[in-house]
Amino acid sequence: GRTVRVALLGCGTVGSEVARLLTEQAGELAARAGAPVELAGIAVRRPDKHPELPQHLLTADAAALVESDVDVVVELIGGIEPVRTWLLTALRKGKSVVTANKALLSEHSGELSEAADAGGADLYFEASVAGAIPLLRPLRESLAGDRITKVMGIVNGTTNFILSAMDSTGAGYAETLDEASRLGYAEADPTADVDGYDAASKAAILASLAFHTRVTASDVHREGISGVTASDIAAAKALGRTVKLLAICERVTADDGTESVSARVHPVMLPRPHPLASVGGAFNAVFVEADAAGELMFYGQGAGGAPTASAVLGDLVAVARNRVQGGHGPRESAHANLPVRPMGQT
Ligand code: HSE
Repeated sequence: GRTVRVALLGCGTVGSEVARLLTEQAGELAARAGAPVELAGIAVRRPDKHPELPQHLLTADAAALVESDVDVVVELIGGIEPVRTWLLTALRKGKSVVTANKALLSEHSGELSEAADAGGADLYFEASVAGAIPLLRPLRESLAGDRITKVMGIVNGTTNFILSAMDSTGAGYAETLDEASRLGYAEADPTADVDGYDAASKAAILASLAFHTRVTASDVHREGISGVTASDIAAAKALGRTVKLLAICERVTADDGTESVSARVHPVMLPRPHPLASVGGAFNAVFVEADAAGELMFYGQGAGGAPTASAVLGDLVAVARNRVQGGHGPRESAHANLPVRPMGQT
């Protein structure tokens, strides 16, 4: 088939792995996609700072790269603007988008899906939640014939690392956060992780897919881990429990039978035998309950360059296949619009 031309926006931890794997595994990816998948350009803020990348592919002009003769845009920059504008333009022009941008998706998935439908393009975002773990495709596709009632899990590696370390050392929060930063597990600015914003964005994405409705990050009740003390951890231990930051998305049925969706992020004291209690370090794990399937558990690396690149490349092969075979990915425009419960009413 015709070559699938890819624009890569952003070349940090994940982007550089995507560029490397795209080049090194070009033969295998082409075989799986049914056509060569070729890197047509890489947009970075400072091309002169990337001597390791093929110089002829580099540009500082992401908007022009998106407008150029490319079939797919892989976005790994993050944040809302200017990325939102670029991706809307790409989708409306029929260019498929693969993104890991949880902040953007958790606020603007409605208009992005509509732009994708309008342009006849695909929007894939497996890497936006739980890194390498195949989770969104199971929710969107494998479980599409079932009725999901609950999605609950550890979706932030940084806070899980901190809480696990506090549990094993007995140390306090501030001290453990410093250690996590020193080891490179926490970002220079850890606010989005420790205050639960990152997990809330992921909860919004999970709830939207699981319950076929639109949940935004602002619908998610959010409490982070900065208030968790060494004595909270010790008290949990004395009760045979451990503290985990959970994202919990549920289908709620009121007494009169009306249904709604509740999504929240907060620390939970889990009994030690619970399958989520033993998830340590920077790992993620998500528990799903559906009427016919029963209980399912998804576990793996939720962050990092290579694990996240795995999810991005899987999406890239999927959109390339759709192009080559003339198919389309799942469309979210036909959402049922189950009401979302106001924050705090859980
Ligand atoms: N900061 C995130 C985490 C990265 O710690 O899980 C992956 O989204």
